[in-house]
Amino acid sequence: MAEATDVRGPDLAEGVPAAELELNGTLVGHFMGEEVLLVRQEDGVHAVGARCSHYGAPLDQGLLVDGQIRCPWHHAGFCLRSGRAERAPGLTDLASYDVEETKGRVRVVRRRPVPSFPTGKTALRIVIVGGGAAGSSAAETLRRQGHSGPITMVDADPELPVDRPNLSKDYLAGAAPEDWLYIRDHAYYQRWAVRRVHGEATELRTSERVLVVSGEELSYDALLLAPGAAARQLQLLGMERSHVHTLRSVSDCKRVIATATGAKHAVVIGAGFLGLEVAGALRARGLEVTVVAPEHTPFVAQLGAEIGQAVMRAHQADGVSFLLGRTVVAIHQDVVEVSDGRRLPAQLVVVAVGAVPRTTLARQAKLDVAAGILVDASLATSAPGVWAAGDAASWWSPRFQTHLRSEHWVTAQRMGQCAAANMLGANEPFDAVPFFWTVHGALTIQWVGYPVGFDDYEIDGSIRDADCAVTYRSKGQVLAVATIGRDIESLRAEVEFERSPQKG
Ligand SMILES: Cc1cc2nc3c(=O)[nH]c(=O)nc-3n(C[C@H](O)[C@H](O)[C@H](O)COP(=O)(O)OP(=O)(O)OC[C@H]3O[C@@H](n4cnc5c(N)ncnc54)[C@H](O)[C@@H]3O)c2cc1C
Ligand code: FES
Repeated sequence: MAEATDVRGPDLAEGVPAAELELNGTLVGHFMGEEVLLVRQEDGVHAVGARCSHYGAPLDQGLLVDGQIRCPWHHAGFCLRSGRAERAPGLTDLASYDVEETKGRVRVVRRRPVPSFPTGKTALRIVIVGGGAAGSSAAETLRRQGHSGPITMVDADPELPVDRPNLSKDYLAGAAPEDWLYIRDHAYYQRWAVRRVHGEATELRTSERVLVVSGEELSYDALLLAPGAAARQLQLLGMERSHVHTLRSVSDCKRVIATATGAKHAVVIGAGFLGLEVAGALRARGLEVTVVAPEHTPFVAQLGAEIGQAVMRAHQADGVSFLLGRTVVAIHQDVVEVSDGRRLPAQLVVVAVGAVPRTTLARQAKLDVAAGILVDASLATSAPGVWAAGDAASWWSPRFQTHLRSEHWVTAQRMGQCAAANMLGANEPFDAVPFFWTVHGALTIQWVGYPVGFDDYEIDGSIRDADCAVTYRSKGQVLAVATIGRDIESLRAEVEFERSPQKG
């Protein structure tokens, strides 16, 4: 619990003049040492915790949407009446409080007890392959929605579910302790009776509804495939050397950190979002970092040249060097050989050249697979009783009238939530608008939508001043909106997508 000195605004036990809170107005104060957000809606004044349960963003800077407060940083959504976490990446409910409005003052009078989840809705045996963003959020959703049957979450990684985006940001930079990484602790899974099995699922027999994990046969009524993606490898001389790493898991990250400790020079191969975040984090650890990649400007295909140039400038200002328009031809001990003949000193090499969806198990089980495991709008695969979600899945989007596959944390969590609800019979389409964020020094870029194949974009504001919104179109149709320094605009763009009529 925060100390009273850490919190903002007036003491809400004493109250504030009711006139200070207009319709749809917000006010932050504190109650018994906790920061509280007051919001007036048509049906009265509501009071919930003022900090997002994801990374603690100030929710008064968010957007009110249909009885929810949406978080400015990564677009979680919480019910104003109950504090309930309704949209990932908010997985934990906010505190909620009783409010009284009398004699022209609004007062918070008590913190409500934490509500319990329903139980007894279904008794299916549910097995989840993958304990990443999609798998772990599915397991939580099943319990939140009242599923009482057994849940088994199988994961090839030994660790508890981890906040993967942190692996290329604060944790890698040495600015966050390891315990920040874990989404939940062991006690959480014990309390909610989620059996975690460490092992690789190697065989799926859909006709028998059996999954084989390290020789053990697991029978299921419903199965979720959420195996994510694997780091793409390069066919390159020296890839097998011990100072060469890719980055996907906590153990990968620990290997990078171990090699970085005592190293002076690092080469990052790849100038995508991950490569540049890694370059920034290693630079923050004091290494001399050079990024080598074939493109001349980062992110051109994804977001256009101007944003790529701005990100590059931000990293250059921090001391990262770029060798673009070139490739690495070989990695030797302590030296990376570049296509232009240069030899870069490097005691650490990180290869960040994209990810490949993990589809081996789905192919073995003869599920339909294309760019990912093909699922319909409800995230059901071609086999009865089998759903798929996250980076590995390619879902039919009625909104964009095509199959989409994304590698976005929030989207994967929302897919896990939707698949879980559908396993319990909800039969909802997955219609969340893809959302992504990436951090490069002082520049945080967010985008909503699907900026693939745009033929035009329009920049409002100044990318250089980190204050802009960029709208991407194809044949006049808005595909996506990227923002820097305009969180509220990103939230509004997401709502606009949500409210635009679906095509199918
Ligand atoms: C370093 C890093 C930084 C990132 N930063 C961002 C960011 O800033 N913003 C953003 O939006 N996205 C980011 N992403 C992408 C985001 O993390 C992914 O989109 C998300 O993790 C996908 O979730 P998922 O559940 O599909 O897969 P994952 O989170 O990868 O989880 C899949 C799990 O399945 C397990 N598994 C795979 N195959 C099997 C099997 N056969 N049997 C058992 N278990 C199996 C894996 O071990 C893994 O634990 C980042 C990714 C990485 C690697
Ligand atoms: S801090 Fe609120 S969604 Fe991330």
